[in-house]
Amino acid sequence: MITLQINGSVLPVEVSPGTTLLEVLRANGFFGVKNGGCAKGECGACAVLLDGRPVNSCLISAAQAEGHPIQTIEVVGEHPDQGWRKTEGLDPIQQAFVESGAIQCGYCTPAQVLAARSLLSREPNPSEDQVREALSGVLCRCTGYLKPVQAVLRAAAVLRGEAIEPIDGAIPAPPEWLGSPPAGGDVAGEPKSDVQPQLVTRTNVMPRITVTPQSKLMNRVGRPEQKVDAVKLVQGKPAYTADIEMRGMLVARVLFSPVAHARIKRIDVSKARALEGVAAVLTYQDIPRVIYSTAGQSDPIPGPLDMFSLDHKVRYVGDRVAFVAAETEAIAEQALKLIEVDYEELPALFDSQQAMQPGAPIVHDEPEYINFADSDPTRNLAAEIRIDIGDVEKGFAEADLIFEADYEVPKVQQAHIEPHVVVTYWDEDDRLVIRTSTQVPFHVRRILAPVLGLPVKRIRVIKPRIGGGFGGKQEVMIEDVAAHLTIATRRPVRYEYNREEEFVAARSRHPMKIHMKTGVKRDGTLTANEMYCVSDTGAYGCHALTVTGNTGHKAMALYVGDEAYRQSPNIRFYADIVYTNLPPAGAFRGYGVPQGYWAVERHMEKIARELGLDPLLFRLKNALRAGELHPFSMAWSEGREPRPETVHTVGLEECVSQGKAAIGWDQKFANPEWHQIPGKPHLRKGIGVAMVMQGTAIPYLDMGGASIKMNDDGSFNLLVGATDLGTGSDTVLGQMAAEVLGVPLEDMIVYSSDTDFTPFDKGAYASSTTYISGAAVARAAQLVAERIRVRAVRILHERTGAEPLQPEQIILEDRKAIAPDGSFVTLVEIGHDSLHHNDQEQIMAVASYKSPVSPPPFAAQFAEVTVDVETGQVTVDQLVMAVDSGVIVNPITASGQIEGGMTQALGYAVCEEMRYDDKGRARERDLVDYHIFRADEMPELQTLFIETYEPSHPFGVKAVAEIPMDGVAPAVGNAILDACGAQVDIIPTTPERVWRALKKGTEWQARSM
Ligand code: FES
Ligand code: FES
Repeated sequence: MITLQINGSVLPVEVSPGTTLLEVLRANGFFGVKNGGCAKGECGACAVLLDGRPVNSCLISAAQAEGHPIQTIEVVGEHPDQGWRKTEGLDPIQQAFVESGAIQCGYCTPAQVLAARSLLSREPNPSEDQVREALSGVLCRCTGYLKPVQAVLRAAAVLRGEAIEPIDGAIPAPPEWLGSPPAGGDVAGEPKSDVQPQLVTRTNVMPRITVTPQSKLMNRVGRPEQKVDAVKLVQGKPAYTADIEMRGMLVARVLFSPVAHARIKRIDVSKARALEGVAAVLTYQDIPRVIYSTAGQSDPIPGPLDMFSLDHKVRYVGDRVAFVAAETEAIAEQALKLIEVDYEELPALFDSQQAMQPGAPIVHDEPEYINFADSDPTRNLAAEIRIDIGDVEKGFAEADLIFEADYEVPKVQQAHIEPHVVVTYWDEDDRLVIRTSTQVPFHVRRILAPVLGLPVKRIRVIKPRIGGGFGGKQEVMIEDVAAHLTIATRRPVRYEYNREEEFVAARSRHPMKIHMKTGVKRDGTLTANEMYCVSDTGAYGCHALTVTGNTGHKAMALYVGDEAYRQSPNIRFYADIVYTNLPPAGAFRGYGVPQGYWAVERHMEKIARELGLDPLLFRLKNALRAGELHPFSMAWSEGREPRPETVHTVGLEECVSQGKAAIGWDQKFANPEWHQIPGKPHLRKGIGVAMVMQGTAIPYLDMGGASIKMNDDGSFNLLVGATDLGTGSDTVLGQMAAEVLGVPLEDMIVYSSDTDFTPFDKGAYASSTTYISGAAVARAAQLVAERIRVRAVRILHERTGAEPLQPEQIILEDRKAIAPDGSFVTLVEIGHDSLHHNDQEQIMAVASYKSPVSPPPFAAQFAEVTVDVETGQVTVDQLVMAVDSGVIVNPITASGQIEGGMTQALGYAVCEEMRYDDKGRARERDLVDYHIFRADEMPELQTLFIETYEPSHPFGVKAVAEIPMDGVAPAVGNAILDACGAQVDIIPTTPERVWRALKKGTEWQARSM
C-alpha cells in the first residue's frame, strides 16, 4: 500500500512493484492521462506534473511517485457554467488552446497543457524556442505544432496581462502581396493595428484567405469558430474509447506470428487456458471460418476477400495466431507465453517484383478466397489496373523528347497517438456493443456481422472521440478480436494495441516502385504521359485496388498537355498490386496520391530543367483547367462504372501566384547568391515546388446522412454518422446547419456517431465529410428551416391579423424568424409552440446526400531547404502551401489540417520509413527508431487559402484534409535538386541517399525521338 498525492488529495493505493504511475492513475479514473501505448517515454501522451515538472507516467512506478505532488489535467480548470455552481472556468492555457485551434484529436492536449503550465510557472515570458522545447516531449501527429506553440505564447501574454489580438484579427499582408493582389477576391487580413508584426505572427492563428464574393454573404460558414469538442478535450474528460470502466472487464492480448509465412502444424493452448485469471483462449479451431476484408469501405468492398479472424496459415511476422482474454494485462501476457505452436515454415516473399515472378511462393492459396475485378491469387496479384486514355503510343510518336525515370516510395506508418482500441460488451438486450476508435462505424457493423455470426441488427457500434486515425482506423482490424472474446466469455473485453503492435501488426502506406515515361514537345507541351507502378499490399489486399488506383487517378490527372493534347489527353496508368509476406498496407491520408506525386512532380521538375523552362510556367501550361473533363472520369472509378465529370473550379494559377509571393520565389529561385550561405561553403540553399490535386469523396457511391431535431429552447440536436477524427468535422457540420437555421454554433448540439442513433454515413475517408456529409446537413437544415418558417408565418398572422406571408419571405437570423417588415418570432417561441402549445409536432428532419461528382481541390506546395553537401543532411527551413479547397468553412480548423498534413508529409519526405530484415521482421518498432517530427524540429509553416466557389455544393466547399500530404515530398526533392544538383528519386531523402546522389551526379537524361 502506498499513498499518492494527486491534485491536492491523498489517494491510498494497493500496487505491486512493477505497477506504473500511468496504470494507477487511469485505474483511479484520471482519464485525462492518456496512454500512447509506448511504455517507453516516447510519445509523452501520459505526462503528468510531478513536483511541478512533466514526467511520463508510463516510465515511473507508482511507488516512485510517493511523496511527490502529482498534478493531472483534471486539476487545471473546468467549464465555467456548472448550473447554479459557477466556476472560474478554464485555465488561460486551456482557454488559449481552445481559441487557437491547437486541439485537433486532443489526445496529446492534456500533456501539452501540463508541459506549458510547467514552463510558464518558471518562465512567464518564454521565447518561441523555449515553448517548442517545452512541448518537444509530447508528440502530436495532428497539428504540426504551430497552433499549440501559438496557444502557449498567447496564454503567456494573457497571464502577463498583455493585450492580445482577437483570434479572428487581421494578419498583416506582406509587402510583396501589395504589388500582386490575388485575382477574384479580397485578402482577409489587411493590417489594421499597430501591434508588432512579430507578436502577431506568434499569436494569430488565422491563415491568409482570399475569399469569394459568395462566402462574404455567410454568417457562420467562414468563421473561425471554436471546435465543438475542444472544451471537453482540453479538460481531459473521459471522451475516448478506453476511458470507460466496466465491472468485470477483461483485457485481450493477441499472439502474433514470429515467422513470415507458415502453416500452423500444431497449436496447444491447454497450459494458457489453465492459467489462473485467464478467461478464454481462442485459436482458428474455436471460431467460424469466415472470409472477409478488413478494408472499411462501402458494399461491395472493392477488393478481394482474403482474411480470416484466425487462420491455420500465417502470412507475415505479426499475423494473428491466438486471442487471449484475462483478468489483467500481465496475466494475458503470461498466457501468450504458454501457447505452444509448431510452424511449418514456407518460402516467403519480401520483394514486390519477386512476387510477380513465375514460380514465386503463393501467399493466398486458400480455397475460400473471393476475388474482385482483376485480383489473381495464383499470381500474387491482389489487383491489376490497366487504364489507357487517348492514344498514348501516338502521343509518344509525336513527342520531340521522351523522358523516362524510376522512383520509389516507402512503407510508412499513420502513427496516430491514440493506438487502435476497442471495448466490447453484451448489453441488457443481448446485443453486442462495440465501442471503438474507428473512422467507419457503419462499415464495422456491416463487415463484422458475418464474421461474428450475428445479424447486423444485433450489433451496435459506438464511436467516441478518436485520438487520430489518418486512414489507419479505416480498417476493421481489432474489433473482431474483442468481439470474439466477449462472445466466448460473455464479459466486457478491452483490446488495445501497444506501440510496437502498431508497427508490427497494423496497416501502413503502400510502398511503390514507379516508372514514368513522358513525351514532350520542345516548347514544353506534354504529348503523352505514362506511369507504371508496382504496389506492395503486403499479406492482405485491403484497399489494394483503390489506393493504387488513386495513385493514377489523382496524380496522373493533373497534367493533360496543352492545345490539341488538352482537348484529348494521352495518359496511361498501369499498376500491379502484389501480395508479399510483409505487414499489410492499407489506407493512409492521401490514399495513394502522395506516392504518385513523388514520381510525377519529380519527373516534371526534371523535364522543365532539361528543357530550360520555368518550372512553374511549364506545369501551368500543361495543367488541367476549369471547364475541362477530369481525364480519368471516363476511364476508372474504383472498379465501378466510370462517368464523365467536368472540373468546374481550379484555383491553381492563383495558388502559384500567391504561394510564390509568400515564399519569395522570384527573389530566390534563379538567384545564385541566395543559394550560398556566406562563410559556410558546405551548405547550399534550395527552393522547390510541386503542384497537386486530390479528390473530394467518391462519386455515385459514398453517402452521408444527417438528422436535425429542434428543442424547446430553440437549440438543435445535429446527429451525424460522419466520424470526426480530430479534423473538426463535427464543428464545420455544425456551422453549416447553424448557417441555414440562423443560430450561433453554440445552439447546435452535435453528436457523432452511433449506429443505433445517428443516420448512416460511410465514415471519415476520401476527404468527403465536409462535402458529402455537409451537403446532407444542409439539406436536413433546409427541411427544418421550412417547418420553422411555416410556423412563424402562422404565429405572426395570429399576432397581427395581417395577411399571411409566404414562408420563403421569412429570414432565419439571430435566433429569430424575421418577416420583411422586421417583425419576428424567436426560435424559443417556435420551439415551445411546436412542442407544447399548438398543433404539436417534433420539428425534425433527416436527409442524405450522395454526390455525382468529386470536385478536386488544387494546391501549389513550396519548400525551402538547406543541404549540407558534405554529409547529405537536409534541413527543411520553410513550407508554404497555397490551397484551393473551395470555400473554407472554418479557417482555423482548415489551416490546422494543412499544417498537420504538411508535417506528416514532411516525415514522408525526409525521415519516415518502415524497413524489414531478411526474415520479414520489422526494424522500426517504436517512435524512437521511427522518427516523427517534434515541436522543436519543425520548419516554418505557412498556409494560404485561395477560395473558389464549387457550384456542386450548397456552400461551395471542396476537400481539405488529404491534399497537404501530396506535395511536400516532391517539393523538398526538387528543392534539394535546386540546392545542390542531387537527383534523389527515393524517399525519404536520408543523408545517405542525398550524399550518394551527390556522388553519382546526374545520370538522368532525355532520349531524343
Ligand atoms: S510516453 Fe508514456 S505512453 Fe507514450
Ligand atoms: S491533436 Fe495532437 S495528437 Fe491529435
